[in-house]
Amino acid sequence: MSKFKALIADQKDSQFTASIQEIDQSQLPAGEVLVRVAYSSLNYKDGLAVTGKPGVIRKFPMVPGVDFAGMVVESSSAAFHPGDEVVVTGCGTSEIFWGGYAQFERLDSEFIVPLPKGMTLKQSMGIGTAGFTAMQSVLAMEHHGLKPENGEVLVTGAAGGVGSVAVAILAKLGYKVVASTGRAQFHAYLKSLGASEILDRAAVAAPSKRPMDSARWAGAIDSVGGDTLAGLLRSMAINGVVASCGLAGGPAFSTTVFPFILRGVALLGIDSTRVPNAQRREIWSRLMRDLPMGLLDSMIVEAPFDKVFAMGEQILKGQIRGRVVVNVNS
Ligand SMILES: NC(=O)c1ccc[n+]([C@@H]2O[C@H](COP(=O)([O-])OP(=O)(O)OC[C@H]3O[C@@H](n4cnc5c(N)ncnc54)[C@H](OP(=O)(O)O)[C@@H]3O)[C@@H](O)[C@H]2O)c1
Repeated sequence: MSKFKALIADQKDSQFTASIQEIDQSQLPAGEVLVRVAYSSLNYKDGLAVTGKPGVIRKFPMVPGVDFAGMVVESSSAAFHPGDEVVVTGCGTSEIFWGGYAQFERLDSEFIVPLPKGMTLKQSMGIGTAGFTAMQSVLAMEHHGLKPENGEVLVTGAAGGVGSVAVAILAKLGYKVVASTGRAQFHAYLKSLGASEILDRAAVAAPSKRPMDSARWAGAIDSVGGDTLAGLLRSMAINGVVASCGLAGGPAFSTTVFPFILRGVALLGIDSTRVPNAQRREIWSRLMRDLPMGLLDSMIVEAPFDKVFAMGEQILKGQIRGRVVVNVNS
């Protein structure tokens, strides 16, 4: 392995470039563990990075791709050995560390977790940062007291990556899941993942003259933000809990304090990047337990390496269904 393929994003004189190039092992940054990458994945953040949008890459040149899974080739860490199958999800990858859009990658062991037993490398990238964030959101809501008997849980952006995995996990755990989507063609898909009802996303985000609407949601996982988050906050039930994890519909939202002071609603922020290794392992073990692998397989589309540019544009337009696994070796 001295030469291999990597997607290199660079910026010179404010001019952004990104292309798949052949590079040498000696160009890889330092790190304890060298991994032969089998698959990466496509997240919203990857769409931003490969299309040159600001907000993700913090130093150039950069190998984008926040996630990767593969086999350890060399390790100076006692935690991993050659031949181990491992998974990495967003941990500064594609921001300050080189990421998974490459056939080899080197990273420190604190960011790496073993592939859960019973899961394939491809399935782990079917989960990727999006699915990891969905599970992290469920755990945060559980820690805040959410239980299936508390009532219905709303998932917004449901046909996307975070949303699809969230629907499948919550349904498996016995929650009554209501999926909000803007794409009518995916109603049957969302029902197949376990949604008991589908709402049009325009209805969730519709403005209201009242500061509070009828109490409905015991919980909500929101990957959309903007008016959607403002709308669902007005309909939270007493002691309802919201996991805010995304901004596919916009970062800014306007609300009042009423959901918080009249209904005791808790708004939990979810950041999947700064998660200590022990907690990462816990999240992966809950994913293995609570995400039906057959349903996960039904969410996955496999894409060859050079498709990430076109699919990166598509994910930013909200046109990707479920999860895209990127085969960096095809
Ligand atoms: N906090 C974290 O650590 C973390 C981790 C992962 C992802 N995220 C964030 O979570 C969001 C979703 O990521 P993803 O990878 O799941 O992306 P994704 O697959 O594109 O899913 C986003 C979904 O949001 C909906 N949507 C898109 N544009 C919209 C708009 N203008 N208005 C309303 N709804 C819209 C669409 O769902 P429907 O077609 O079903 O309506 C789309 O499928 C992104 O903002 C991402 O940055 C955050």
